[in-house]
Amino acid sequence: MKTKAIYPGSFDPVTNGHVDLIQRSSALFDEVVVAILKNMEKSPLFTIEERTAMLEEATQDLKNISIVSFAGLLVDFAEQVGASVIVRGIRAVSDYEYELQMALMNRRLSSKIETVFMIPGESYSFLSSKLVKEVARLGGSIQEFVPADVEKRLYDKFRRR
Ligand code: PNS
Repeated sequence: MKTKAIYPGSFDPVTNGHVDLIQRSSALFDEVVVAILKNMEKSPLFTIEERTAMLEEATQDLKNISIVSFAGLLVDFAEQVGASVIVRGIRAVSDYEYELQMALMNRRLSSKIETVFMIPGESYSFLSSKLVKEVARLGGSIQEFVPADVEKRLYDKFRRR
């Protein structure tokens, strides 16, 4: 039986840490749906279209990956696309508490979907979209943290502000 996983997140923007997890998931599952949350509350820097384009560019070499966006409950969307596994990355112990809460809530909402925690390469353990945006906004180098296309888009965004 083929296993489809869903990797949800804000991806505002995608970092090399996310790409590392997508590559690891791609090797582990038959299909991986990368699902971008349409979150109205968070006032994201990049639009859904921009985030989709950046993820597509970053994952173009992987054949079993698709990029979609969603609103509403993750477990409902996972069922809709036929995913039985939710993939989440854990960088450090500090991520664990929030991730555990979400995994248990998602399990309560749907017993059919299992959450799998994955650990990115240790060189990405300090990386987050939030910090990358801050460094870029303040003119620091982000070359080693994000794909080249994302680096360019980030500098373009902040130059225009
Ligand atoms: O990259 P993020 O912002 O940490 O991702 C959080 C995400 C998208 C996984 C989470 O906010 C989510 O699943 N939102 C969808 C709404 C939902 O299902 N909420 C209940 C989850 S316990």
